[in-house]
Formats: sequence, structure tokens, C-alpha cells
Amino acid sequence: MRTPIVAGNWKMHKTWEEAVQFTNEVKEGVPTVDEVETVVCAPALFLKEMVDLTTDSSLAIGAQTMHEEEQGAFTGEISPVALQNIGVRYVIIGHSERREMFNETDKSVNKKVHAAFKHGLIPIICCGETLSEYENQETKEVVTFQVDAALHGIKREEVKNVVIAYEPIWAIGTGKSSRAKEANETCRTIRTALAQQFGDDVAKQVRLLYGGSVKPDNMKSFMEQDQIDGALVGGASLEADSFLQLVEVAK
Ligand code: G3H
Repeated sequence: MRTPIVAGNWKMHKTWEEAVQFTNEVKEGVPTVDEVETVVCAPALFLKEMVDLTTDSSLAIGAQTMHEEEQGAFTGEISPVALQNIGVRYVIIGHSERREMFNETDKSVNKKVHAAFKHGLIPIICCGETLSEYENQETKEVVTFQVDAALHGIKREEVKNVVIAYEPIWAIGTGKSSRAKEANETCRTIRTALAQQFGDDVAKQVRLLYGGSVKPDNMKSFMEQDQIDGALVGGASLEADSFLQLVEVAK
């Protein structure tokens, strides 16, 4: 019913030559978008070239962040207008690394989600708890609050196109992935929160991804869960082979 998504987040990795090589290797191997949507969120510098390389492919290109304003004196930032203009389709919003290191707040995340829809970009909104919140069993409250805040004022017809990535912060890049069943229960909580705000019909259509040390060998355990529709993948999205293996599992 919901088309799976495998989204790679390269973070601050790869040279331009490596980005081009990966794109050329992967673009022929990905399935059609009705089978699995595939997205690579690359450093901003590579986006235009990657969009141009993939015009005849199902592989979509995404940004890792953006500013909420259309233009202005924001040195070093990238506008949603510019992303849309070069053909970028997705944008990660509110990744925990952006929240922790670059002062992104629930409020700015919400502004960016509004800006993404205004400019025809699909937001991949990240939420997730810290290790201490996990240990204090606060996961459900944390993710519900983050998702409600991110979607404040967003229209129902837009919400159904949102992609939400649940990424427990303690599982990112640590090799310690969440147990699939536990991640599934958190995703169920997110879907329940969506249903309360926007109705069942909308909630059922939203794709929920798991992220945090996803690898080809544990991907299946996540894809088997009824609430998990794909993955947002860091480290294991960097090599073409490994990315394509993840996509194969998601089919
Ligand atoms: O956006 C991706 C996540 O931060 C997960 O990264 O797969 O390297 O743990 P990871």
C-alpha cells in the first residue's frame, strides 16, 4: 500500500569524482519508483551534477538541509528556491546532527517543512530520542512532540506526502541499531500521533523510515515490520554495492 523508500544520507563524505562514480553505478540499477523510491541526499555542492546525471533514472536526488527563507543575507545557506530550481526532489529536515550541532530547533524545523512544501520539495523529517531519553523511557513523548511540532500548520493534503525518519540518536553511526520490533512500536506511536492530528486516512499514507546503523544484513528485519516503510541510511549508503543491496531488500 505504501511504496518503500531507501534514502541515503551521505553527510559530509565523498569527493565530486566519487559522487559522480557512485551515481553512474547506481542509476541503472535502481527499480522503478512504484516498486521502491530511491533517494541519495548528497552534499549541496554535488546536487546539480547528480540531478543532471539522473534525469533518465528513477534515482532521486535530495539535499541534507536548507534554509527556510527564499532568499536573503544568510551567508553559506541554501534556499528552497535554489534546490527546486536545479531539480532536487527531497530534503532532509531536522536531522539530529543539524539539531545538535547547527542549532536547528523544532520551530525552525517547522518553518523548513512549510518552505519545502511551498517549493515542491518532499521533506524527510527526522525525529528521535537521545540515549538518556531512551533509558528514561521517554521515546514516545519525545518523538510525538517532535512530529507534532514539525507538522504544525501543515495541510492534510501535504502531510500525506511527508516522509518521517525515526532515528534514535544513540543508534546513529554507532553500529548499535534499534531492535526492529522496538523501532516498529515507535513508528506505530508516530502514526497514531499523525492520525490524531490529521486523521487515519492521512496517517496511513505517510511513509515512516527507520534510521540508525542500517546495513544490508539487518535491513530485512526492519522491512519486515508493519509500520516501517524503508530506511534513512548513512554509512551503508556510501558504496554503490551496499546501497543497491539495501534497495534489493526493500523490494
Ligand atoms: O541519516 C542517517 C542516519 O544518521 C543514520 O546514519 O546509518 O551511519 O547510522 P548511519
